[in-house]
Amino acid sequence: MSDKPDDEIQPVSTVNAMNVLIIGSGAREHALCWAVAQSERVQGVFVAPGNGGTALMGGKVRNVPLKATALDDLLRFAVDNGIDLTVVGSESPLELGIVDLFRDAQKPVVGPVQAAARLESSKVFSKEFMQRHGIPTAGYHVFRDAHTAKSFIGSPETIYPLVIKASGLCAGKGVFIASGKEDALMAIRELFEDRIFGDAGNEVVIEEFLQGQEASVFALTDGVRYRLFLPAQDHKRIGDGDTGKNTGGMGAYAPAPIVTSEVMQRVEERIIRPTLKGMAEEGYPYTGFLYVGLMIDGGEPFVVEYNARLGDPETQVVLPLLKSDFMTALQASVDGTLDEVPFEMHRKSAATVVIASGGYPDHYEPGKRITLSDDLAEMEDCLVFHAGTACEGGQLVTAGGRVFSVTALGETLSESIDRAYGIVEKISFDGAYHRTDIGAKGLVL
Ligand code: AMP
Ligand code: GLY
Repeated sequence: MSDKPDDEIQPVSTVNAMNVLIIGSGAREHALCWAVAQSERVQGVFVAPGNGGTALMGGKVRNVPLKATALDDLLRFAVDNGIDLTVVGSESPLELGIVDLFRDAQKPVVGPVQAAARLESSKVFSKEFMQRHGIPTAGYHVFRDAHTAKSFIGSPETIYPLVIKASGLCAGKGVFIASGKEDALMAIRELFEDRIFGDAGNEVVIEEFLQGQEASVFALTDGVRYRLFLPAQDHKRIGDGDTGKNTGGMGAYAPAPIVTSEVMQRVEERIIRPTLKGMAEEGYPYTGFLYVGLMIDGGEPFVVEYNARLGDPETQVVLPLLKSDFMTALQASVDGTLDEVPFEMHRKSAATVVIASGGYPDHYEPGKRITLSDDLAEMEDCLVFHAGTACEGGQLVTAGGRVFSVTALGETLSESIDRAYGIVEKISFDGAYHRTDIGAKGLVL
């Protein structure tokens, strides 16, 4: 992996030799490790459980064989190994209350407490919260049983398409877009009767379908102050032209031109500030990363969803575009000094293309041998982030649906896209699949 594409050396802070623990195993966590390890303040980066890519990083970075949901073991590891700061990458530990646990043990941690993480872990909570605080989002109804939901679906007043969502965490797969009554009934049967998402589908939100283009905005916040990353756009569907099933995300780019400075101002005024203010007023100030998933229609932003973490694959484009020292910002977010630190961006574009296992997001076979071309390391402004990879006896093999997220920077979006696809050609394994149109929407604006 190449060094951070930077044209300036960051000032070294007075506090050095920090040990950081990162929790999660995806390309987002590989990118977090990479960004944290750039900092001269950091002595050691531990990632639990990490992946094949973080295992191969070497230097300051080391994998720790603990699951992201093994909260007590993670806390013990942090205490025993002098971890100064923990960064929670994925949502499950947040839903389980990892931040509450670490804070009770006086271990600094970046993330929201369990009650605040409900912005992601309960769609019913987040919709009701937005309604209480006048935050723009799609109109909705909440259902707790199949009978009532079916009566709503069958009512002549119900307008299609409709969006039907399991309230709980479903790894991005709990959303059904119903074009008519039949689709809607099938979704309700799957959620309430077949219980395909278990308890996560005990409550169901049915909401109005929003038109427009999606974008993701990320804030790092200490509960009051916040700093914004460059806006990004994800590609959630498996197929080119946004067709086929929803996935965790097949690629992303930033900055997304759909989020003009006027749109960003509206997002701050109508969404970010009222969200932080509302959470504080309700008694659970929101700290850590706030992910606002938006639909932008004629310049007007609406919240599609909140997440209590950074996005994957968006992190793989927004972190490489951060010019300032990431570790300094993370530390400031737990110290409550976010307004005192630099938070500057490169004036470049970034694109990331996800390489997935054939069959994803449905069934796929792991354990395929991966070949990386020798000249990969020499490619300029290129970052190969691993997701579902494992290192078995020195051989890199596939170990998940999304296998890599390959990022390139460029002076323009078009250059970053071309470079990212240049990296894709250097990586091969049996059944490898990627979309061929990542970033294309950003070029036509
Ligand atoms: P969510 O998990 O809530 O982000 O939903 C997953 C995806 O479903 C989103 O990224 C959108 O592409 C789509 N979606 C969710 N809610 C809506 C909505 N109200 N209108 C249109 N599309 C939506
Ligand atoms: N990129 C979608 C997510 O992280 O939820």
